[in-house]
Parts: sequence; structure tokens; C-alpha cells
Amino acid sequence: MNKVNVVLGSFYGDEGKGKIIDYLSQESDVSVRCTGGNNAGHSIEIDGKKFAFHLIPSGILNKNTVAVIGNGVVVDPKVLIEEMENIKENGYSVENLKISDKAHVIFPYHVEMDKLQEELRENKIGTTSRGIGPVYCDKYERCGIRMGDLVNKKFEKQLRKNIENKNKIFEVYGHKTINADEVVEQYNQYADTLRKYVVDTVDLLHNALEEDKKILCEGAQATLLDIDFGSYPYVTSSSPSIGGICTGTGIGAKYIGEVYGVLKAYSSKVGEGPYLTEQDNEIGNTIRELGHEYGTTTKRPRRCGWLDLVALRYAVMVNGITGLAINHVDTIGKLDKIKLCVGYKKDGKVSMQFSTDIDYISECEPVYEEFEGNFGDISNIKNREDLPENAKKYLNRIEEIVKVPIKFIGTGAGRDSMIVD
Ligand code: IMO
Ligand code: MG
Repeated sequence: MNKVNVVLGSFYGDEGKGKIIDYLSQESDVSVRCTGGNNAGHSIEIDGKKFAFHLIPSGILNKNTVAVIGNGVVVDPKVLIEEMENIKENGYSVENLKISDKAHVIFPYHVEMDKLQEELRENKIGTTSRGIGPVYCDKYERCGIRMGDLVNKKFEKQLRKNIENKNKIFEVYGHKTINADEVVEQYNQYADTLRKYVVDTVDLLHNALEEDKKILCEGAQATLLDIDFGSYPYVTSSSPSIGGICTGTGIGAKYIGEVYGVLKAYSSKVGEGPYLTEQDNEIGNTIRELGHEYGTTTKRPRRCGWLDLVALRYAVMVNGITGLAINHVDTIGKLDKIKLCVGYKKDGKVSMQFSTDIDYISECEPVYEEFEGNFGDISNIKNREDLPENAKKYLNRIEEIVKVPIKFIGTGAGRDSMIVD
């Protein structure tokens, strides 16, 4: 039986998961999104055309790949329908899209609640204000509405109750309230559009496994945004690490094969929270411009800095990463000098001890090794041996420290600019 391969973010998101997913999904029969919602933004470039995916697995662009939105995903139907339209307008089909009947539905009150909660927070998280936290709250509070309820039109009573309850809170804070009649009408229309795509995806995935089909799990967000393993409270409200892949699909651990951890040759973060190797200076600004580090989802400028191997080693441990995919090697190679964080110094001692504890991080100092840059144009190189010496030294050192092989090397923006080992 084919094992299920997984692509995960190793840091704070935006590592370029889309590029690796795009490559791997070309040889996958089934491509699955497992967690999160339209807080994710995966951009891929095909024939000079840029596609931004927020909800639909990018595998949809391959004619023969079934694209699954798993039960762990939270779905904003409006965004989903827009994304489907966009794909169709670009000449691709969405007939192979399948949506889990168990995926929870985002309603306008979730989005409004997200905004209100952020407003009320003393320490802002910097959420994407897509309603992600509030919809997962409803899921765990057990008042959520699932895609199956939506398309079978068994949602009105619960929805009206939810809106009534949330409006009471909105009124207290003078926030705009939600008109239940409008939402019911709107979501009945969405239900009609989406009905034919909604199925029991657990069944679908296990049938595919039995037929020896190749399944690829597309991680969204990343390890340090994980509700358990990330830098809480500056995290998202789901489990984007390996556990979320299993619970977000119904695929048990024994079926999992390769776990690819995606990272960039530098690091970036959107939103608030600790970030030890951040370069809030000219270097960070240069990396941001060279790497076009502006949010796919929110267009926010991303915080940028050096690659942190202490954090990467943590991601490797938590997820059981078997191979690394490192993007933007071309970008970092445009600098003269590159730094790599190889340890944290605390109370005079250097160690590889990572923690998401904010007090711990604030007492640590990054320890750097310096490398020569100026890699030149590497976008057409197809073998790792042919990379310039400076690039090889940098990549070898990363492998040496985290003890996981690099399987993919991103050498440019285009679909083909990648070395596969
Ligand atoms: P992809 O899949 C980067 C961040 C937000 C915020 C925090 C909580 O593109 O890598 P939320 O709206 O999820 O409640 O926000 O998590 N965040 C991401 N940052 N890439 C993402 O996804 C993200 N998804 C959420 O910026 O700090
Ligand atoms: Mg993103």
C-alpha cells in the first residue's frame, strides 16, 4: 500500500509550502487540506501565472488529482465559491473537488467576533480576521454547524440560536450585529451551490488507500502557530502540526510515510509574538524586498530575519520530519553575508534548547555562524552538486545540525526552479 506523504510548515507559516505541494501533487491521486481555513495563503506560479489558494488544495490544477477539503478544515462558503470561480475562469475544472461533511462552516458572526476579540485584546495576536478562532470555538463548544448540516439544510435552528447569542455580546460592546434572516437566505444559496461536492471524505480517503492511490496531505499554517506547540497565545486555533493531519483527515498514523518540513533559507513571521532571529533593521528590510515578503492573505509586510536552527530542530522533533524542503535559497544568496542561528545563549550557556515560552525567549540571545552569500543565478540548476560552493556550505551545515536530509531546494519563483534530491 502507498504511504501518505505530508507537507508541513516548520516555522510561522509562509515557508512556500505551495511550491512543494504543487510539485508533489503532480504525482498524487488525491491531495488533501487538513486544518485551518482561509487564513492560509498558498501561492504557486505556473507559466508565469500566479495562483493564490486559501482553501482548495492546489492539486485541483492537475486534471487527475482529487482535491479534498478534510474534516479538520473550517470553510467559509463565500470564499470557497469565489476560489472555485477563479479556478474555472483560469480554464481549470473544479469537478474533482470533495468537501468533508464534517468540516465546520464559517459564518459572518465568526468574522465579526474575530475582529471584536482582537479589538478587545490588550496584547494583540494579529489574527487574519477570517473568523478562524471563533469557528473552532463553536466546534469545541459543540454548537458549530458542519458542511453536511449546511447542504442538507439542517442548520437554520442552530444558526438562529448562535446569532441570537452572539448578537447579545456584540450589543454589549456596541459592535455591529448580524441579521439572521439575511444570513439564513445567503447560506441556503451557498448550500445549493456546494451540495454536490460534499461527501464523507474519511470513506473516500480510505477507499483511495485500499486502491493503492497516492495521497498527499497539504499542511497549512505551521508548527510555531500550532495551538499546542506554538508560541501560545500568538498562534492559530488549530493543530497544523502532524497530529492535525491525522485528526483533520481520519488517516491513522500507520498510513503516514514521508513528512516533509518546509522552511525558507531565512525566516519570516506575520502577526505578533516572540521571534528571536528577527532583523528589525536594514537586513530584515532587504530580505523582505528580495523575497517579496508580503502576506498572500492580508498583504501585511512580514517580519523577516535569519534562519533559526534551534526552532527548526524543534519542528523536526514535534512532527517527526523525515525530509526538509528549503525555499528561497536564491533569495538569501543575493546577500553578501548570511547568518544562521545555531544555538541560543542563556545565562552564559549555549544550547539547542527551544521553548515557546515568551519569558524564556526574551532571556535568550541567538548564536550565529556566518556564511558567504553571492550565489548568483541558480534558478536553472538541477543537481545539488552543481550549486556554487557557498550555497552548498550553507545547506550542508543545516543538514549537519538538524540531522535531516534536504530533499527539495527552491532556486527561484517558477514551478521548475527546484532541485529534487
Ligand atoms: P499559511 O498556510 C502565516 C497567523 C496570523 C496570526 C495568527 C492567528 O499561509 O502559512 P488566525 O487568523 O489564524 O487566528 O491568526 O496566525 N497565521 C498565519 N501566518 N501564514 C499562515 O498560513 C497563517 N495562518 C495564520 O498572522 O499571527
Ligand atoms: Mg500565508
